[in-house]
Amino acid sequence: MKKLLSIVLALVMVLALVACGNTTNNNGTVDNGTVDNGGASSNDGSSDAEQTGAGKTVGIAMPTQSSERWINDGANMKAQLEALGYEVVLQYAEDDVQMQVSQIENMVAQMVDCLVIAAVDSGALTAVEAQAKAAGIPIIAYDRLLMDTDAVSYYASFDNKGVGTAIANYIVEAKDLENAEANGESYTIEFFMGSPDDNNAVLLHQGIMEVLQPYLDSGVLVCKTGRTSFDETCILRWSQETAQQWCENYLSGFYADEDLDIVCSAFDGFAYGCRSALEAAGYTDANWPLITGQDAELMAVKNIISGKQTMSIYKDTRLLAEKCVTMVNAVINGTEPEINDTTTYDNNVLVVPSYLCTPVAVDAGNYEELLIDGGYYTAEQLAE
Ligand code: GAL
Repeated sequence: MKKLLSIVLALVMVLALVACGNTTNNNGTVDNGTVDNGGASSNDGSSDAEQTGAGKTVGIAMPTQSSERWINDGANMKAQLEALGYEVVLQYAEDDVQMQVSQIENMVAQMVDCLVIAAVDSGALTAVEAQAKAAGIPIIAYDRLLMDTDAVSYYASFDNKGVGTAIANYIVEAKDLENAEANGESYTIEFFMGSPDDNNAVLLHQGIMEVLQPYLDSGVLVCKTGRTSFDETCILRWSQETAQQWCENYLSGFYADEDLDIVCSAFDGFAYGCRSALEAAGYTDANWPLITGQDAELMAVKNIISGKQTMSIYKDTRLLAEKCVTMVNAVINGTEPEINDTTTYDNNVLVVPSYLCTPVAVDAGNYEELLIDGGYYTAEQLAE
């Protein structure tokens, strides 16, 4: 009788889960039914009654609300976890390292069942991570690798070097760099790279330089400031203001007498800053440079449509959130999540088992198919 009752109960729970197996769109709002998430698999065990989050709390520490992507990341994850019955504590640190440390300390004190962290400074959390480990709270690194700690169980991200490769390959093709030398063409280029305390930024720069260095060496690409190394081009905390400031300085100095042809920027925020600098310096459609970005934020895609940004890297935050949720379920329920990389992400203490999603270049030619047909943005959002 007891056994029968537990089978019936299990069935009821399965049905309840199927009924609320909602997914989110990119506004972080919950849609009933499934949304096309660009090929995301639903391997989160949500149909398994034993993997519900009822009675469990997940603490999510996000870096900042100053960029739209993290708002979507947080909202997507919260909605997906809540749909599985988890309680969610979601906090943003507004790029303040100390604020993030105390937010995580509070979550540890609260004895959350799992921590998901996208760090402001990836190496600055070791003490609080050790506290979490001592308290038996597993940690998942979200999008940014957590460095110098043995307290991290899994890492959900995109292929970060691949982001750089995709940006650089886009430039090579758009400017036909392979034939440029033979055609007697050369292009000026400047680099705006990510934060030095973010491992993603380092890998992205490596991916870019692996492709572009030969063209810099041959003189097909000309960097008039000479700033091509990561140390010379990294921008602390991915600051849009700093990128704008640098771009203004470059345009009034090195580029006073010659146009800048390519803005190789690692982030949509930098592209916005450079756009302002270029407009202030009098650039028009006639000499507007090729501008790259990353994240396919709504504003970036609007800028792509209007021609003020050339491309971005589409990183589906719904998919990333989904992969992270499978990891949360796994550490809480003692199962194995889906992993596709066990060799790349060495945080100086261990190689963190990772799931890496694939970044895709988006531009005026494919945004409708990728982003509108893929349900990431609606045509109305992009038209507003
Ligand atoms: C990185 C991330 C990028 C971008 C950047 C600034 O860690 O990989 O996609 O969002 O932070 O927020």
